Amino acid sequence: MTPLNGARVLVTGASGRIGPVAVAHLRAAGAAVTTLSIGEHPGLEAERVLVGDTRSQEDVANALDGADFVVHLAALAHRDIAPPFDVYTTNVVSTFNVLAQAGAAGIGRAVVAGSINAYGLPMNRHEVVPAYFPLDTDIPVDIADWYSLSKHHGEGTARMAWRQWGIDVVTLRFPHVHDEHALLAQSKQLEQDPKAGLREAWSYLHTEDAARSIVLALTAGTTGAHAFFLAANTTVAPYRTEDLLDKFAPGVPRLRRFVGREVPIDLTPARELIGFEAHRDLPIPTLDL
Ligand SMILES: NC(=O)c1ccc[n+]([C@@H]2O[C@H](COP(=O)([O-])OP(=O)(O)OC[C@H]3O[C@@H](n4cnc5c(N)ncnc54)[C@H](O)[C@@H]3O)[C@@H](O)[C@H]2O)c1
Repeated sequence: MTPLNGARVLVTGASGRIGPVAVAHLRAAGAAVTTLSIGEHPGLEAERVLVGDTRSQEDVANALDGADFVVHLAALAHRDIAPPFDVYTTNVVSTFNVLAQAGAAGIGRAVVAGSINAYGLPMNRHEVVPAYFPLDTDIPVDIADWYSLSKHHGEGTARMAWRQWGIDVVTLRFPHVHDEHALLAQSKQLEQDPKAGLREAWSYLHTEDAARSIVLALTAGTTGAHAFFLAANTTVAPYRTEDLLDKFAPGVPRLRRFVGREVPIDLTPARELIGFEAHRDLPIPTLDL
């Protein structure tokens, strides 16, 4: 018996990379899942599979019918995936539409896929570096692209929805999420060009851990609207974190020292607010930089 046993959960964007794994975890926890995605996913198994648009009031109202919880993953998930207008408007309108309708319908809790990009630096085209390490949610924001802006504004929408309708919302600021094969390939690239990972703090998360975090966020006891970083405990770069920071961010203050390949992101809120700890660390050796 889990807290999700028999609960009806709407998952938007279920046909993407994270969605099918999240749906499988939710169903394994006993939830009855409705999915709403603009794209079809032939192998997707759920109690109700809907094809529709999260920007449409009608499609979202239909998908929310009978739901107890919402997991909102639908987005145009990269700056360059579509024209700037489409990326920004799809993401902010979808998040508003889903949370506003869920809140107005009296649904008590939602989990939203945020992004590490909400602080703006990873996709920033200027030579900017984080104000300090570890990254935390107080770090100064510097946004230079429409995808990052959409994720930043999504967090404001979540706070508004909580204040207006009392719906509790957890926004998970995911780093690069992928399976082990793809993460190992990224690690090889960073072995050659470690500086490329600096502004993402060399962070990553296995898709299975992302799905676990969604279930935890949905069942946690925290109330209100919260947004925080999530990541594996280690970095995807095969070098010691202190060595990486000495070389690529020598002038950037460190609020503490990092042990081995410890990810330089503050994971305390993820631990304290939803009890999340990543299980899937990449099996890579630590090299000298
Ligand atoms: N994968 C990552 O590395 C990563 C990192 C940070 C944040 N995120 C966020 O996590 C979420 C899921 O990411 P993903 O990698 O699975 O994305 P993805 O691109 O693989 O899938 C996106 C999903 O959204 C759906 N979608 C897009 N526009 C829609 C619309 N107008 N109406 C209905 N559905 C629509 C697609 O059909 C698909 O199911 C996104 O919000 C993304 O921004 C992902």
